[in-house]
Amino acid sequence: MAELIVALDVNNREEAVQKVKAIGETVDFYKIGLELFTAEGPDVVKAVKDLGKRVFLDLKFHDIPRTVERSVRSGGKLGVDLMTIHSVGGKAMIKAAADAAAEFGPNGPKILAVTVLTSLDQSDLEDVGIKGRTPAEQVEAMARFAIENGANGLVCSPKEVGNLSKILKPGTLFITPGVRPAGAAVGDQKRVATPADAVRDGSTHLVVGRPILAAEDPVAAAKAIRAEMNV
Ligand code: C5P
Repeated sequence: MAELIVALDVNNREEAVQKVKAIGETVDFYKIGLELFTAEGPDVVKAVKDLGKRVFLDLKFHDIPRTVERSVRSGGKLGVDLMTIHSVGGKAMIKAAADAAAEFGPNGPKILAVTVLTSLDQSDLEDVGIKGRTPAEQVEAMARFAIENGANGLVCSPKEVGNLSKILKPGTLFITPGVRPAGAAVGDQKRVATPADAVRDGSTHLVVGRPILAAEDPVAAAKAIRAEMNV
């Protein structure tokens, strides 16, 4: 059964708590990203957890293995459920993240790898020395690499998940942003899919921000998305 995660893209802790309370029991999983975490630190994670919610801490670690290992351990101590790393950090870094997460047992954090940022196109990849592969080929190669080295899942676009879910081992988690209910405003997202499409293609977790946070009635918006996901 796919899960709905709301991207808590707000300015500060007060706003975060207010949004989580307003959405209430319809959603029990929230993504805290770099912007909110940099502003408020671990306190905002604790505040969301104190409201009984699960947390996806999306800080996209990319550093030497020891630093990533210790940062994942800090996330585990905070009780977060999902954390992100960049797969280009290399084998030892991915393994270090996976090992640190595993110390917390089956209910500890799961490690998700970012393959290629969706903001990068072919010429951006060439600028950083990745030549001879299209972005799609690079996504597939990095996805295999991350999962082989211990990542539990991937952050991927709804356009990639159909292919990746076929070629990677069962049980791999697929977290997809860029989800828009039929008829909703797309905003700055370029390649979107509906909740039903994303789930049908193999997404295990959908990340949705503005269609819920900016809705006049966030509870109704979240319920409509859950209905489209058929959960
Ligand atoms: O408001 P919206 O539904 O577009 O929010 C999507 C969330 O997923 C945002 O927090 C955004 O940063 C994140 N995200 C994304 N596309 C990616 C990776 C992350 O939209 N490729």
